[in-house]
Amino acid sequence: MPIVEILPDSVSVQVKAGTSLLTAATTNGVELMHSCGGIGACTSCRVAILSGQDHLSSIGTAEREQLQESGILETHRLACQAMVYGDVVLQRPRWRTSLDAPVTGD
Ligand code: FES
Repeated sequence: MPIVEILPDSVSVQVKAGTSLLTAATTNGVELMHSCGGIGACTSCRVAILSGQDHLSSIGTAEREQLQESGILETHRLACQAMVYGDVVLQRPRWRTSLDAPVTGD
């Protein structure tokens, strides 16, 4: 079964092939934003793919357009749209958790 490693949390999860990156994260204690509920309409679930891009499902037209508009097509996927078929390492955005925390959101 594929392994998804999630940074910066250093969480590694084993998932059934065909599981979305969003499900892999959220069912294993890593919260990813998913404002549209996982229908591929908001890009809040975007994650940087550090390795294993070829182990993800093909990118669809709508996802491609959204990532292209955001200028992150070459480096990111929408976690709700990318299904896992092999080992993947991803970096999730770090959102502000307090007024003192830095915001990256990339
Ligand atoms: S949750 Fe909205 S695009 Fe993935």
